This record gives sequence, structure tokens and C-alpha cells, in this order.
Amino acid sequence: MVYEHDIVIVGAGGAGLMAALYASEGGADVAVVSKLHPLRSHTGAAQGGIGAALGNEEEDHWLWHAFDTTKGSDYLGDQDAIEQMCQDAPRTIIELEHYGVPFSRTREGKIAQRRFGGHTRNFGEAPVRRACYAADRTGHMILHTLYEQCVKNKVTFYDEFQVLDLVKPDDSTDAVSGCIAYEILTGEVHTFHAAITCFATGGYGRAFKTTSNAHAGTGDGFAIALRNGFPLEDMEFIQFHPTGLYRLGILITEGARGEGGILRNSEGERFMERYAPTVKDLAPRDMVSQCIYKEIREGRGVNGKDHVVLDMTGVGKDVLEHKLPEISTFSRVYLGIDPVKQPIPVAPTCHYAMGGIPTNIDGQVVRSADRSDTVEGFFACGEAACVSVHGANRLGTNSLLDLVVFGRRTGIEMAKQVKAGAERQPLADGSERPVRERLDEIVARTTGEKAVVVRTDLQETMMKNVSVYRTDETLGEAMGELQTLRERAAHVTVDDKGKRFNTDLMDAVEVQFMVDYAESITESARNRTESRGAHLREDYSKRDDGDWLKHTLIWTDQNGGTEIGYKDVVITQFQPKERKY
Ligand code: FUM
Repeated sequence: MVYEHDIVIVGAGGAGLMAALYASEGGADVAVVSKLHPLRSHTGAAQGGIGAALGNEEEDHWLWHAFDTTKGSDYLGDQDAIEQMCQDAPRTIIELEHYGVPFSRTREGKIAQRRFGGHTRNFGEAPVRRACYAADRTGHMILHTLYEQCVKNKVTFYDEFQVLDLVKPDDSTDAVSGCIAYEILTGEVHTFHAAITCFATGGYGRAFKTTSNAHAGTGDGFAIALRNGFPLEDMEFIQFHPTGLYRLGILITEGARGEGGILRNSEGERFMERYAPTVKDLAPRDMVSQCIYKEIREGRGVNGKDHVVLDMTGVGKDVLEHKLPEISTFSRVYLGIDPVKQPIPVAPTCHYAMGGIPTNIDGQVVRSADRSDTVEGFFACGEAACVSVHGANRLGTNSLLDLVVFGRRTGIEMAKQVKAGAERQPLADGSERPVRERLDEIVARTTGEKAVVVRTDLQETMMKNVSVYRTDETLGEAMGELQTLRERAAHVTVDDKGKRFNTDLMDAVEVQFMVDYAESITESARNRTESRGAHLREDYSKRDDGDWLKHTLIWTDQNGGTEIGYKDVVITQFQPKERKY
């Protein structure tokens, strides 16, 4: 079946829904295709807050926010995009409030704000309260509000449709004329024909063994973009959130430290004081995660294990109950620990992709190092995109902000292009066929490994070799293993041969996506011979602005080979300096 719309957005998290809302406000006929029910999207797991210099609790300024974001990015973020995000932030939060997001309140009834890592007053003087929050369910509240507004605006939802490919008018052009998706309920393959297709397909945390990401965070959009000849930008920069529940990886919000939680090692020492004397536990995530591993490597992991603890015992029952109810429950339910009385065992967990599909500040995909070279009919926003505002390390609260600011801009721009006459380009003949054949081939195969086996090995390889600490040797090892994993993923088999709700088949499709971009991550990381932000090369331990103050672009060719190129970093007012906190 062919469905026709002006705009088809793939992904129903915060970015996809924000784009859908603003595109529909702009008068376009909008559809959202999502492999989950929208309210199960991973944005719902975002806890601690969304950054905006509202100054409700302490003096603040968007320029301080822009400075912190640039410094946090280890000067790899594009400063024009960062300025746009930080300037747009306060009005976007107010719009969200007017749409109905139930933010927590100050005594005077203003939106409450708390401290978060790397956010400071007056260019680094001291931590500032900049994170607007709804207890520790901020993403959940935003997601629900946006969904209600989209329903009200008559956005069409195709729930539980897994995107499998993009469609182009023909081979001679890069323009995009829609996408192909698998209806999980029926097993049918459908084409979505649109003037504009937008990927808001989220991140890839599930490529790692320990992650805060939902099961659906398999990064499908990255692989589809690569397979269609588009580049990915800065894939080597992966955020490990410092405080995942030990062994499980479930997020314990940085807002916990914003409310006074303290990280301690086996000696009970508040070790972050040594590494970041000004902001201490509220240093940016790359630093805190690296410091936690350093403590563990030097023998100060708690109880001789590979974790430290987050001590909330001084924070008080009232704050835990009212401002951090979710993490208190997680800690009790999953570890049997009451944070009012006992410290919580935590370790870094794979959390966020700083890189992604390169776009301009209005969400249109850019093809090459020249930002003016936009792709007709193809947009991306949210974690799937790289605008780039996070550079080598994202500050906490800036992901929800990125979603809403650039989701909004993307929605507005897409509606504008439709209004100005953007039309559905022709569909290439028989574009569904290769997709159907690929699925049929998997179902027909009678021997081979299950996808879950290949996925587990992939996650272990990535976690062991491509996580917080890296060397040429570990990355080389990962490249070797990924070649084998690619072969194995290409020959997986499924037990379920049926059509209805064949999640076995979807697992197979996803693991094939995962090996594709895992190679891009690893290859980009091996190529960057410096340490910057979240990319810590033990064999190249210094930041090297002379050679590496540039973005990585990576393409794959038909034979699985890669090509690497570069893009300049946009610097407007903050010259790169050594980062000290
Ligand atoms: O720690 C947190 O609440 C996560 C926030 C974020 O990733 O921005």
C-alpha cells in the first residue's frame, strides 16, 4: 500500500512530535510513523530537566548557557547553532508550558529550576539553576503533552511501523521522496510517499552492553542514512552518563547531584573535589565518567568492585520524595536500596549519541562539508541528527532542549517548504521489492544464528573496546570483530516464520542496522588521534586543536568500505581554551 502525505516524520519521541506539532500548525498534512506507540518513545525516560536561561531562581543569561554548552562540547560544537539553541530556549519552554507541560514550581509559582553538570553563572563562576523540571519525569511530561497536541491537530499516526529504507525518485539524484516501513501487526510492507521525509529516529545506546536507553534505541535511522549514501557526522563521540544503576545501566538523573547528591569512592571520599574543585560533582559528564573509571582503575571502586556510590543520604526524605520520586523508586525496586538511608551503587552507562545525520539549523540534511548543500525532501532532528550543538560532549538538559528547539524549527521549515510548493517527487520503480526480498530471505533461511546472539556479542565488543577509554589497539580489535559480526548478522535466522507481530524478524533487521553504524563509530574513533570530550584516547591523551578542531564525516560504500572527510567547526565568539572546572 502507498500512503501519501505532505510530510512523513519517522519517530514519535520529543523531536518527532515537536516537528509534527509545528508542521501541522503551519498547515501541512503530517504523518508520524513509529515502531512504538508514541508514548513509549525513549524521550519518556528523560528525567532531570531541560535547560533554559529563564533566571527564575538565580540570575541567568542565554549567553552564559551558550558559553557553557561550547565549553562542555570541548569547543567542537558549532557556535552559531549553539547560540540559536540557547536563545530559542526560554521562549520554547514558555510555549511548552502553554501547551500544558506540568513543570514543577517555585514558591512564587514560576517554573522551578535546578542545577546540572557544566551549567554555570557568569562564564564558569559557580553552578547555576538552569534546568527546568517536572520532578524527575520531565521527558515523560513533555512527551505526553506533545502527543496530546498532535492528536488535537489531527496528525496521522502510524504506530508500530518499523522503517526499513528511504525512497528516492531515481538513482540519479539524492533527493528523498519517502520511506518504506514494515507494519508489525500485519507483516505488510508499505511505502510512505511524501514531499518531505524527516528522520527523528533517536539514538543507538542499545549497541552497547550497559545503557540507559530503551530497547528500541537501536539507531535505525543512522544505518538507513548510511545505506543511502548520506554521511554521518562525529560518530566517535558517545556519551556515558556517570550514574547508571550498577550493572543495569538504568538512569539515575544528574538532577540527583543537582539537588545535593555526592559521588564517593571506597574511602568515602568526595573524589570529584580533586578533579573539578569549582563545580565538583556537577562537572560535565565526560569528565565525571572518566574520573569514576580512574577511581576504579586505581583501586578505589566500592567494595573492590567496578562502581562508586551516589550518596543522597544528606539530601533528605522530602527532596527525594517530591523532587526525585522516580529514581528513589528505581533504587528501591531494582537494587533494594533506600536512598534516604543508603548510598546507591552507580557506574557509567551508555546514554547519548552526540553525532548523527548532519543538518543545518532548520533540520534539513546537508550532504557534504559545504553546509549549503542541502538534500531535497530530507530532514532530521533530535538524537538522530547532528546540528551540531553538542560537539564532543553534551551537557545534561541540552538533549531535551535540542529536541524541542530543533524539532520546532524543523517543523516550521518543513511546513514553509510545503506551503512554498514542495511536491512529492516520483517514487523509484519497484523500490519496495528489494526490501521485501531482504525480509523474505531472512524468514526463508533455515540455518543460522538468532539475532539476539549476534546482538549480544556486538554489545560486548562495543562496551569492551569503544567505550570511555579507547586505544588504537582496542579500536582495531573492535573493527576486526565487527567484520565478523557483519557476516554473522547477514545470515541470521528467525524461529517465527509468521506475519503477525514477528518481533523476531524485527530483531534481525535491527541487528543488521546496528553493525552498519557500529563500524562508523569505531572507524571514526580510530581515525581521531586526539582526546576531546567523550572521546578519550589513552594513546593520544591530549586535545589537538592544530590537527583536530574539525568535525568527522563518514560515508560507507556498497562494499562496506568507508570514506572519511571533515567539516570546519563554526566559531563565533568563544575561542578554544583548555577546559577547567
Ligand atoms: O541526568 C539526566 O536527567 C539526564 C538528562 C539528560 O541526558 O539531558
